[in-house]
Amino acid sequence: MKFNDGRTVSTAAEWQERRSELVELVQHYVYGHLPPAPDKVWAKALSVRNLPDCQANEETLTLVIDSKKQLRMRIAIYRPLGARASPLPTVIREEHALGHTEEVARIMKRGFMFVEFAREDLAPDDPKAESPAQNSYPQYDWATLAVWAWGAMRVVDYLESRDDVDLSRLIVTGHSRGGKAALLAGALDDRFALVAPNGSGCGGAGSFMVKEDGVETLELITRPNRFGYWFHPRLRDFAGREGELPLDQHFLKALVAPRALICTDALGDKWANPRGNRVTSRAAQIAFEREGAGSKNGLHFREGEHDFLPADWDAILDFADWHLRGRRPRNVSRFFLWR
Ligand code: GCU
Repeated sequence: MKFNDGRTVSTAAEWQERRSELVELVQHYVYGHLPPAPDKVWAKALSVRNLPDCQANEETLTLVIDSKKQLRMRIAIYRPLGARASPLPTVIREEHALGHTEEVARIMKRGFMFVEFAREDLAPDDPKAESPAQNSYPQYDWATLAVWAWGAMRVVDYLESRDDVDLSRLIVTGHSRGGKAALLAGALDDRFALVAPNGSGCGGAGSFMVKEDGVETLELITRPNRFGYWFHPRLRDFAGREGELPLDQHFLKALVAPRALICTDALGDKWANPRGNRVTSRAAQIAFEREGAGSKNGLHFREGEHDFLPADWDAILDFADWHLRGRRPRNVSRFFLWR
Protein backbone atom coordinates (compact mmCIF):
# COMPACT_ATOMS: atom_id res chain seq x y z
CA MET A 1 0.00 0.00 0.00
CA LYS A 2 2.95 2.27 -0.73
CA PHE A 3 3.97 3.41 -4.17
CA ASN A 4 7.48 2.67 -5.39
CA ASP A 5 8.37 6.26 -4.50
CA GLY A 6 7.15 5.82 -0.91
CA ARG A 7 3.83 7.69 -1.11
CA THR A 8 0.95 5.98 0.74
CA VAL A 9 -2.00 4.59 -1.21
CA SER A 10 -5.17 6.11 0.18
CA THR A 11 -7.88 6.43 -2.47
CA ALA A 12 -9.46 3.84 -4.75
CA ALA A 13 -7.89 5.58 -7.74
CA GLU A 14 -4.47 5.38 -6.10
CA TRP A 15 -4.92 1.67 -5.47
CA GLN A 16 -5.60 1.18 -9.20
CA GLU A 17 -2.38 3.06 -9.92
CA ARG A 18 -0.49 0.96 -7.39
CA ARG A 19 -1.88 -2.21 -9.01
CA SER A 20 -0.18 -1.16 -12.25
CA GLU A 21 3.09 -0.89 -10.35
CA LEU A 22 2.58 -4.38 -8.90
CA VAL A 23 1.95 -5.81 -12.36
CA GLU A 24 5.19 -4.28 -13.61
CA LEU A 25 7.21 -5.35 -10.54
CA VAL A 26 6.21 -9.02 -10.72
CA GLN A 27 7.06 -9.16 -14.42
CA HIS A 28 10.32 -7.24 -14.06
CA TYR A 29 11.73 -9.20 -11.12
CA VAL A 30 10.13 -12.62 -11.29
CA TYR A 31 8.60 -13.84 -14.54
CA GLY A 32 9.49 -11.49 -17.39
CA HIS A 33 7.01 -9.56 -19.53
CA LEU A 34 4.11 -11.25 -21.30
CA PRO A 35 3.11 -10.24 -24.83
CA PRO A 36 -0.37 -8.74 -25.23
CA ALA A 37 -3.34 -10.80 -26.33
CA PRO A 38 -3.05 -12.00 -29.93
CA ASP A 39 -5.45 -10.66 -32.56
CA LYS A 40 -7.26 -13.97 -32.82
CA VAL A 41 -7.52 -17.45 -31.28
CA TRP A 42 -9.50 -20.16 -33.02
CA ALA A 43 -9.86 -23.92 -32.73
CA LYS A 44 -9.59 -26.97 -34.94
CA ALA A 45 -11.53 -29.98 -33.72
CA LEU A 46 -9.59 -33.17 -33.08
CA SER A 47 -12.03 -35.61 -31.47
CA VAL A 48 -15.35 -35.93 -29.64
CA ARG A 49 -16.51 -38.82 -27.47
CA ASN A 50 -18.56 -39.61 -24.40
CA LEU A 51 -16.83 -40.88 -21.27
CA PRO A 52 -19.63 -42.71 -19.42
CA ASP A 53 -17.38 -43.49 -16.45
CA CYS A 54 -16.88 -39.77 -15.84
CA GLN A 55 -20.38 -38.78 -16.98
CA ALA A 56 -18.70 -36.39 -19.40
CA ASN A 57 -18.57 -35.47 -23.04
CA GLU A 58 -14.96 -34.91 -24.09
CA GLU A 59 -13.88 -32.71 -26.97
CA THR A 60 -10.25 -32.31 -27.92
CA LEU A 61 -9.18 -29.34 -30.01
CA THR A 62 -6.07 -27.57 -31.17
CA LEU A 63 -6.07 -23.85 -30.51
CA VAL A 64 -4.43 -21.72 -33.15
CA ILE A 65 -3.11 -18.54 -31.57
CA ASP A 66 -2.51 -15.34 -33.57
CA SER A 67 -3.37 -15.08 -37.25
CA LYS A 68 0.27 -14.55 -38.28
CA LYS A 69 2.24 -16.59 -35.74
CA GLN A 70 -0.22 -19.50 -35.63
CA LEU A 71 1.04 -21.01 -32.38
CA ARG A 72 -0.66 -24.26 -31.55
CA MET A 73 -1.83 -25.64 -28.22
CA ARG A 74 -4.05 -28.64 -27.56
CA ILE A 75 -6.93 -28.47 -25.11
CA ALA A 76 -9.57 -30.92 -23.86
CA ILE A 77 -13.04 -29.79 -22.82
CA TYR A 78 -15.33 -31.83 -20.59
CA ARG A 79 -19.03 -31.09 -20.21
CA PRO A 80 -21.34 -33.01 -17.87
CA LEU A 81 -23.48 -35.50 -19.79
CA GLY A 82 -27.09 -34.41 -19.78
CA ALA A 83 -26.30 -30.86 -18.61
CA ARG A 84 -28.96 -28.30 -19.50
CA ALA A 85 -28.20 -25.97 -22.38
CA SER A 86 -27.26 -23.03 -20.16
CA PRO A 87 -23.63 -21.89 -19.85
CA LEU A 88 -21.73 -23.48 -16.98
CA PRO A 89 -19.00 -22.21 -14.68
CA THR A 90 -15.75 -23.63 -15.99
CA VAL A 91 -12.53 -24.82 -14.39
CA ILE A 92 -9.37 -24.36 -16.47
CA ARG A 93 -6.37 -26.42 -15.47
CA GLU A 94 -2.70 -25.99 -16.28
CA GLU A 95 -1.27 -29.33 -17.35
CA HIS A 96 1.87 -30.40 -19.14
CA ALA A 97 -0.12 -32.58 -21.54
CA LEU A 98 -3.71 -33.79 -21.97
CA GLY A 99 -5.49 -36.78 -20.52
CA HIS A 100 -5.41 -36.32 -16.77
CA THR A 101 -9.01 -37.27 -16.38
CA GLU A 102 -8.92 -38.62 -12.84
CA GLU A 103 -10.68 -35.52 -11.46
CA VAL A 104 -13.21 -35.18 -14.30
CA ALA A 105 -15.99 -37.24 -12.67
CA ARG A 106 -15.80 -35.15 -9.49
CA ILE A 107 -15.95 -31.85 -11.40
CA MET A 108 -18.84 -33.03 -13.61
CA LYS A 109 -20.84 -34.13 -10.58
CA ARG A 110 -20.54 -30.65 -9.14
CA GLY A 111 -21.95 -29.13 -12.34
CA PHE A 112 -18.85 -27.42 -13.74
CA MET A 113 -17.22 -27.70 -17.13
CA PHE A 114 -13.54 -28.55 -17.17
CA VAL A 115 -10.84 -27.52 -19.63
CA GLU A 116 -7.33 -28.85 -19.56
CA PHE A 117 -4.59 -27.41 -21.74
CA ALA A 118 -1.23 -28.78 -22.80
CA ARG A 119 0.99 -25.87 -21.76
CA GLU A 120 4.14 -27.59 -23.00
CA ASP A 121 2.89 -27.21 -26.58
CA LEU A 122 3.80 -23.52 -26.09
CA ALA A 123 7.01 -23.99 -24.10
CA PRO A 124 8.41 -27.39 -23.14
CA ASP A 125 9.57 -27.82 -19.57
CA ASP A 126 13.15 -28.11 -20.70
CA PRO A 127 15.56 -25.21 -21.19
CA LYS A 128 17.36 -27.03 -24.01
CA ALA A 129 14.25 -27.63 -26.10
CA GLU A 130 12.92 -25.18 -28.69
CA SER A 131 10.14 -23.04 -27.27
CA PRO A 132 7.54 -22.15 -29.94
CA ALA A 133 6.04 -19.31 -27.89
CA GLN A 134 9.33 -17.67 -26.95
CA ASN A 135 10.60 -18.04 -30.52
CA SER A 136 7.46 -16.32 -31.82
CA TYR A 137 7.86 -13.29 -29.56
CA PRO A 138 11.62 -12.64 -29.47
CA GLN A 139 11.17 -9.08 -28.22
CA TYR A 140 9.60 -10.27 -24.92
CA ASP A 141 11.72 -11.40 -21.96
CA TRP A 142 9.12 -13.86 -20.64
CA ALA A 143 10.31 -16.98 -18.89
CA THR A 144 8.60 -20.36 -19.01
CA LEU A 145 6.08 -19.77 -16.19
CA ALA A 146 4.96 -16.58 -17.95
CA VAL A 147 4.42 -18.52 -21.19
CA TRP A 148 2.28 -21.08 -19.41
CA ALA A 149 0.25 -18.34 -17.70
CA TRP A 150 -0.26 -16.67 -21.08
CA GLY A 151 -1.50 -20.05 -22.36
CA ALA A 152 -4.29 -20.04 -19.75
CA MET A 153 -5.33 -16.59 -20.98
CA ARG A 154 -5.44 -17.84 -24.56
CA VAL A 155 -7.79 -20.63 -23.49
CA VAL A 156 -10.15 -17.90 -22.27
CA ASP A 157 -9.80 -16.06 -25.60
CA TYR A 158 -11.10 -19.19 -27.28
CA LEU A 159 -13.82 -19.90 -24.69
CA GLU A 160 -15.19 -16.41 -25.40
CA SER A 161 -16.38 -17.78 -28.75
CA ARG A 162 -18.46 -20.58 -27.16
CA ASP A 163 -21.95 -20.28 -25.76
CA ASP A 164 -21.79 -23.17 -23.27
CA VAL A 165 -19.24 -21.47 -20.97
CA ASP A 166 -20.23 -18.96 -18.29
CA LEU A 167 -17.53 -16.34 -18.85
CA SER A 168 -18.31 -14.59 -15.60
CA ARG A 169 -17.45 -17.76 -13.66
CA LEU A 170 -14.07 -18.96 -14.84
CA ILE A 171 -11.71 -20.70 -12.44
CA VAL A 172 -8.00 -21.16 -13.11
CA THR A 173 -6.13 -23.86 -11.27
CA GLY A 174 -3.02 -26.00 -11.50
CA HIS A 175 -0.72 -28.06 -9.36
CA SER A 176 2.82 -27.26 -8.30
CA ARG A 177 4.61 -25.66 -11.28
CA GLY A 178 1.15 -25.51 -12.88
CA GLY A 179 -0.08 -23.78 -9.72
CA LYS A 180 2.66 -21.15 -10.02
CA ALA A 181 1.52 -20.41 -13.57
CA ALA A 182 -2.16 -20.46 -12.56
CA LEU A 183 -1.55 -17.85 -9.86
CA LEU A 184 0.31 -15.62 -12.31
CA ALA A 185 -2.45 -15.97 -14.92
CA GLY A 186 -5.10 -15.17 -12.33
CA ALA A 187 -3.20 -12.17 -11.02
CA LEU A 188 -2.75 -10.63 -14.47
CA ASP A 189 -6.05 -11.45 -16.16
CA ASP A 190 -9.26 -10.41 -14.46
CA ARG A 191 -11.38 -12.68 -16.64
CA PHE A 192 -10.64 -15.38 -14.02
CA ALA A 193 -13.26 -15.03 -11.29
CA LEU A 194 -11.57 -17.56 -9.00
CA VAL A 195 -7.84 -18.26 -8.86
CA ALA A 196 -6.87 -21.56 -7.24
CA PRO A 197 -3.19 -22.54 -7.19
CA ASN A 198 -2.50 -25.89 -5.48
CA GLY A 199 0.83 -26.84 -3.89
CA SER A 200 2.41 -23.97 -5.80
CA GLY A 201 5.24 -23.14 -3.38
CA CYS A 202 8.27 -21.11 -4.40
CA GLY A 203 7.42 -18.73 -7.23
CA GLY A 204 3.72 -19.44 -6.49
CA ALA A 205 1.72 -18.82 -3.34
CA GLY A 206 4.71 -19.28 -1.01
CA SER A 207 6.74 -16.37 0.25
CA PHE A 208 10.31 -15.83 -0.96
CA MET A 209 11.24 -14.10 2.29
CA VAL A 210 9.62 -16.38 4.89
CA LYS A 211 11.36 -19.74 4.74
CA GLU A 212 11.66 -22.55 7.25
CA ASP A 213 13.95 -25.56 7.13
CA GLY A 214 13.10 -27.85 4.26
CA VAL A 215 11.57 -25.12 2.10
CA GLU A 216 12.51 -24.63 -1.55
CA THR A 217 14.23 -21.25 -1.53
CA LEU A 218 14.75 -18.74 -4.29
CA GLU A 219 18.39 -19.82 -4.35
CA LEU A 220 17.50 -23.49 -4.86
CA ILE A 221 14.79 -23.02 -7.47
CA THR A 222 16.74 -20.61 -9.68
CA ARG A 223 19.90 -22.73 -9.91
CA PRO A 224 20.90 -23.19 -13.54
CA ASN A 225 20.67 -26.98 -13.18
CA ARG A 226 17.22 -26.73 -11.53
CA PHE A 227 14.45 -24.40 -12.66
CA GLY A 228 16.23 -21.15 -13.46
CA TYR A 229 14.47 -21.06 -16.86
CA TRP A 230 11.04 -20.77 -15.23
CA PHE A 231 11.96 -17.26 -14.07
CA HIS A 232 13.52 -14.09 -15.37
CA PRO A 233 17.32 -14.30 -14.81
CA ARG A 234 17.09 -11.14 -12.67
CA LEU A 235 15.40 -13.12 -9.88
CA ARG A 236 18.56 -15.09 -9.19
CA ASP A 237 20.38 -11.85 -8.24
CA PHE A 238 18.31 -11.98 -5.04
CA ALA A 239 19.36 -15.48 -3.99
CA GLY A 240 20.24 -15.29 -0.29
CA ARG A 241 19.11 -11.66 -0.12
CA GLU A 242 15.38 -12.05 -0.68
CA GLY A 243 14.77 -9.24 1.81
CA GLU A 244 16.09 -6.79 -0.77
CA LEU A 245 13.46 -7.74 -3.34
CA PRO A 246 10.94 -4.90 -3.67
CA LEU A 247 8.13 -7.48 -3.66
CA ASP A 248 6.98 -10.84 -2.39
CA GLN A 249 4.27 -13.18 -3.58
CA HIS A 250 1.47 -11.40 -1.71
CA PHE A 251 1.67 -8.94 -4.61
CA LEU A 252 0.18 -11.60 -6.88
CA LYS A 253 -2.49 -12.44 -4.33
CA ALA A 254 -3.38 -8.76 -3.87
CA LEU A 255 -3.81 -8.40 -7.63
CA VAL A 256 -6.56 -11.03 -7.56
CA ALA A 257 -8.77 -8.85 -5.29
CA PRO A 258 -11.70 -8.23 -5.50
CA ARG A 259 -12.03 -11.51 -7.33
CA ALA A 260 -11.80 -14.77 -5.34
CA LEU A 261 -8.59 -16.62 -4.48
CA ILE A 262 -8.04 -19.93 -2.78
CA CYS A 263 -4.53 -21.28 -2.24
CA THR A 264 -4.53 -24.95 -1.28
CA ASP A 265 -1.56 -26.72 0.28
CA ALA A 266 -0.62 -29.81 2.28
CA LEU A 267 0.79 -29.44 5.77
CA GLY A 268 3.40 -32.13 5.17
CA ASP A 269 4.62 -30.45 1.97
CA LYS A 270 7.40 -28.43 3.59
CA TRP A 271 9.15 -27.95 0.23
CA ALA A 272 6.14 -25.89 -0.95
CA ASN A 273 6.30 -23.65 2.12
CA PRO A 274 2.80 -23.82 3.65
CA ARG A 275 3.85 -21.28 6.28
CA GLY A 276 4.99 -18.89 3.55
CA ASN A 277 1.62 -19.37 1.85
CA ARG A 278 -0.15 -18.39 5.06
CA VAL A 279 2.02 -15.29 5.49
CA THR A 280 1.40 -14.03 1.95
CA SER A 281 -2.36 -14.56 2.36
CA ARG A 282 -2.34 -12.57 5.55
CA ALA A 283 -0.34 -9.80 3.90
CA ALA A 284 -2.71 -9.65 0.90
CA GLN A 285 -5.85 -9.33 3.01
CA ILE A 286 -5.55 -5.55 3.12
CA ALA A 287 -6.15 -5.48 -0.64
CA PHE A 288 -9.22 -7.73 -0.39
CA GLU A 289 -10.66 -5.60 2.40
CA ARG A 290 -10.00 -2.40 0.52
CA GLU A 291 -12.13 -3.85 -2.29
CA GLY A 292 -14.90 -5.04 0.05
CA ALA A 293 -13.97 -8.67 -0.62
CA GLY A 294 -12.61 -9.74 2.77
CA SER A 295 -14.13 -13.25 2.53
CA LYS A 296 -12.66 -13.95 -0.89
CA ASN A 297 -9.07 -14.48 0.21
CA GLY A 298 -9.14 -18.21 0.97
CA LEU A 299 -6.48 -20.62 2.10
CA HIS A 300 -6.90 -24.33 2.71
CA PHE A 301 -4.57 -26.86 4.28
CA ARG A 302 -5.02 -30.59 4.42
CA GLU A 303 -2.88 -33.23 6.05
CA GLY A 304 -0.45 -35.11 3.85
CA GLU A 305 2.06 -34.54 1.12
CA HIS A 306 2.60 -32.79 -2.21
CA ASP A 307 -0.29 -33.78 -4.46
CA PHE A 308 -3.56 -32.56 -5.97
CA LEU A 309 -6.10 -34.73 -4.15
CA PRO A 310 -9.89 -34.94 -3.88
CA ALA A 311 -9.67 -32.95 -0.62
CA ASP A 312 -7.99 -30.07 -2.50
CA TRP A 313 -10.57 -30.22 -5.30
CA ASP A 314 -13.44 -30.25 -2.82
CA ALA A 315 -12.05 -27.16 -1.09
CA ILE A 316 -11.71 -25.34 -4.42
CA LEU A 317 -15.15 -26.35 -5.69
CA ASP A 318 -16.79 -25.49 -2.35
CA PHE A 319 -15.14 -22.09 -2.48
CA ALA A 320 -16.35 -21.71 -6.08
CA ASP A 321 -19.90 -22.67 -5.08
CA TRP A 322 -19.78 -20.04 -2.37
CA HIS A 323 -18.31 -17.12 -4.27
CA LEU A 324 -19.47 -17.86 -7.82
CA ARG A 325 -22.87 -19.42 -7.18
CA GLY A 326 -23.90 -17.98 -3.82
CA ARG A 327 -24.02 -21.40 -2.12
CA ARG A 328 -22.31 -20.84 1.18
CA PRO A 329 -20.80 -24.11 2.44
CA ARG A 330 -20.90 -25.16 6.08
CA ASN A 331 -17.80 -24.41 8.11
CA VAL A 332 -16.25 -21.59 6.14
CA SER A 333 -13.66 -21.01 8.87
CA ARG A 334 -11.56 -23.80 7.27
CA PHE A 335 -10.79 -21.34 4.44
CA PHE A 336 -9.26 -18.68 6.62
CA LEU A 337 -6.50 -20.45 8.48
CA TRP A 338 -4.17 -17.54 7.83
CA ARG A 339 -6.20 -15.42 10.30
C1 GCU B 1 9.94 -29.42 -8.08
C2 GCU B 1 10.18 -27.94 -7.90
C3 GCU B 1 8.92 -27.25 -7.36
C4 GCU B 1 7.74 -27.60 -8.21
C5 GCU B 1 7.61 -29.09 -8.33
C6 GCU B 1 6.52 -29.56 -9.28
O1 GCU B 1 9.80 -30.04 -6.83
O2 GCU B 1 11.26 -27.79 -7.05
O3 GCU B 1 9.11 -25.84 -7.36
O4 GCU B 1 6.58 -27.02 -7.68
O5 GCU B 1 8.81 -29.62 -8.85
O6 GCU B 1 6.14 -28.84 -10.20
O7 GCU B 1 6.10 -30.70 -9.13
